[in-house]
Amino acid sequence: MFSQTESLYRHAKERIPGGTQLLSKRPEMFAPDLWPAYFREARGCEVWDLDGRHFYDMTHNGVGSCLLGYAHPEVSRAVIGRIEQGSMCTLNAPEEVALADRLCEIHPWAQQVRLTRTGGETCAVAARIARATTDRSVIAVCGYHGWQDWYLAANLGESDALRGHLLPGLDPLGVPRELRGTLVTFPYGDRAAFQAVLDACADRLAAVFMEPCRYHDPAPGYLEFIRDGAHRAGAMLVFDEITIGWRACLGGSHLRLGVTPDIAVFAKALGNGHPIGAVIGTTAAMEGAHGSFISSTYWTESVGPAAALATLRVMQETRVWEHGAEAGSAWQERWRALGAKHGLPVAVEDGYPCLAHFAFDHPQANLMKTLYTQRMLHRGFLASTAIYPTLAHSPEIIERYGEAIDAVFGEVAEALAQDAVEKQLEGPPAHTGFRRLL
Ligand SMILES: Cc1ncc(COP(=O)(O)O)c(C=O)c1O
Repeated sequence: MFSQTESLYRHAKERIPGGTQLLSKRPEMFAPDLWPAYFREARGCEVWDLDGRHFYDMTHNGVGSCLLGYAHPEVSRAVIGRIEQGSMCTLNAPEEVALADRLCEIHPWAQQVRLTRTGGETCAVAARIARATTDRSVIAVCGYHGWQDWYLAANLGESDALRGHLLPGLDPLGVPRELRGTLVTFPYGDRAAFQAVLDACADRLAAVFMEPCRYHDPAPGYLEFIRDGAHRAGAMLVFDEITIGWRACLGGSHLRLGVTPDIAVFAKALGNGHPIGAVIGTTAAMEGAHGSFISSTYWTESVGPAAALATLRVMQETRVWEHGAEAGSAWQERWRALGAKHGLPVAVEDGYPCLAHFAFDHPQANLMKTLYTQRMLHRGFLASTAIYPTLAHSPEIIERYGEAIDAVFGEVAEALAQDAVEKQLEGPPAHTGFRRLL
């Protein structure tokens, strides 16, 4: 007899190819057969599944989209107010101009803005604008920038071109082979590799597309080196702030690092759970956006910009990035201390606490991670090896989580000592990358 939550997911796998709309929301990525696929209600960092079971979210909290916590009252009020006045119309939403102004105020180097709704499409729009402005085709990328053809083209022909950039196993099936050669990749932090890209295609390069940082500050001078190389080639520098933006300061993390791009893209946390994305740029970089056909019906609805305006207000008032740093540091500290206490090989990087994560440093790491997740579920926590802190993670919840991992790290350590990690699993181990479900 399956629970309501589990039954629905079993049905979904027949009806919806892949089961869900986003790989990172597949229960198989956490604890197959046990992880609750669906939520009935989500508030702060608390979640109730379809069977009324309650959990604290100690994972990525809406895949990084809900930095203020789920259903933040001020954001919800702005959204409900807009819906009650009509959220869609033949005419345009004034909130989109207010949001464009606010984004340029926060990022004084930018003068123009186009709005979208999702992260991947925001990247695709930025790529289109850069190509239109420069009248060139090739884009050099580092890191992950969505599911669209312009990006997955990097995997055409050389099947491992995106190794270290994309999740293992992703296949550019369905991406036209004719796009081969339009995307080149380079690893973050490797100056020689970037120089090799410039040497190979500087005169065809439209843009260099990258996150300014992900888990650590770049080496001194690295971003300037990339920017200067891109500009010498006549290409645009595009910073992807979809995940790291707003977590380290009010705005893109590039503001803190002191290097400005020609274009920057935002999505996820900008709407705190409501779809909104933005491409911001200098007047010169956005030139191509005037002539290129970039147009979509739901980019004009008003809930997204209304949510973003309220979100930006709350982010600024609460200085949410300071809260994230505090909560994330508390977890990093506990993972280290409790790993040591139980003699468990827990590796905690000295990375940004706003994207805190740890790893089991052991050949059975994935089995250990699955056992950890299963045991944490039993204690009422959605837990994996990464936590994106939100405003809703109060000191009391951080404390409760600390008590739970103390117990569960002890259980995993004991299972490991008895060589019984796999035997103690209640279901199959978590998937580690993209895999067909049926
Ligand atoms: C840096 C970065 N760019 C783009 C995306 C794609 O955003 P979305 O999933 O909203 O399409 C992601 C998503 O994880 C991301 O982390």
